[in-house]
Amino acid sequence: MSAVVEIENLTKDYEVGFWRKRKVRALDGLSLKVEGGEIFGFLGANGAGKTTTLKLLMRLIYPTAGAARILGRDIGDVRMHARLGYLPENPYFYDYLTAREFLEYCAELFGYDSRERKRRAEELLARVHLDEKSWNKQLRKFSKGMLQRVGLAQSLVNEPEIVFLDEPMSGLDPVGRRQVRDLISSLRDGGTTVFMCSHILSDIEVLCDRVAIMRQGRLAETGRLEELRARASDKLRIEITVAGADAAAIAEKLPALDGASVAPTAGGARVEVADERDVDAALAAVRQAGGRLVSVQPVKQSLEELFVRETTGVKEGN
Ligand SMILES: Nc1ncnc2c1ncn2[C@@H]1O[C@H](COP(=O)(O)OP(=O)(O)O)[C@@H](O)[C@H]1O
Ligand SMILES: [Mg+2]
Repeated sequence: MSAVVEIENLTKDYEVGFWRKRKVRALDGLSLKVEGGEIFGFLGANGAGKTTTLKLLMRLIYPTAGAARILGRDIGDVRMHARLGYLPENPYFYDYLTAREFLEYCAELFGYDSRERKRRAEELLARVHLDEKSWNKQLRKFSKGMLQRVGLAQSLVNEPEIVFLDEPMSGLDPVGRRQVRDLISSLRDGGTTVFMCSHILSDIEVLCDRVAIMRQGRLAETGRLEELRARASDKLRIEITVAGADAAAIAEKLPALDGASVAPTAGGARVEVADERDVDAALAAVRQAGGRLVSVQPVKQSLEELFVRETTGVKEGN
């Protein structure tokens, strides 16, 4: 398998402010490769730079620095874009068209004849599980979830080799999420590469082969999901529960340990250390502060925690 998306040092500054213009770096030196035939998850909290990355790849905005190739072509290559599909984050369509008219219109843009347009529109609307009763309704009457389905159908109208989905599950109820999830995995089974953004770990966890975690415009982690999960659980923390002493008193006695923290609890305090070898030093501090040991417990880090920590930028021990 060769890389179908290659991103190199992609950087985007937005200019904000009216009188006093200043620059905000939304994306900072992103380098990334996505292999053909995989479902790639692009994860990060709101504001992490996911949508900006997709807009750059789709050529809706231009980079401050860096370059990217899709299907072996520079993203400036217009013909290559005809081989892609794209679902924007908050799809907004021609309100007065019906779902069917809109999809036929999209098919027309790709040059399909009228029979083929009709066939594709119907096949796709069924595929995204839009209730047949709604096919001839105007889009302005659609709910967010229904628009999301139409957007998804639209992104597949040209049978793209790779499809870019920006928060494809947003606005959907649990049943809808499941249907979209099944649709995305069927795309992969059909040989389509999927690049999907989400700020919700669980949507990505069940679907994706590889993921990248973004934090404040930077790539924080990338790899196979199992690798990240293993790496996360390697980071063992040890939790020491203490009674009869307050957090400030313990913190005062605690030597500077990498990744150690003290937090108040109802009956006393909780001390955390990142290394087993630091437990003795922490216990000594607890004793000096007049505290009583309640328990010492190793705590495994979950992928969820890794994700939250990576995305919020909270350092371990804080
Ligand atoms: N058009 C814009 N003008 C100024 N700042 C923007 C614009 N679009 C996005 N940003 C800023 O860029 C950062 C990344 O945003 P975005 O790419 O939408 O993140 P995500 O999709 O991960 O939530 C945020 O800080 C956001 O406020
Ligand atoms: Mg976004």
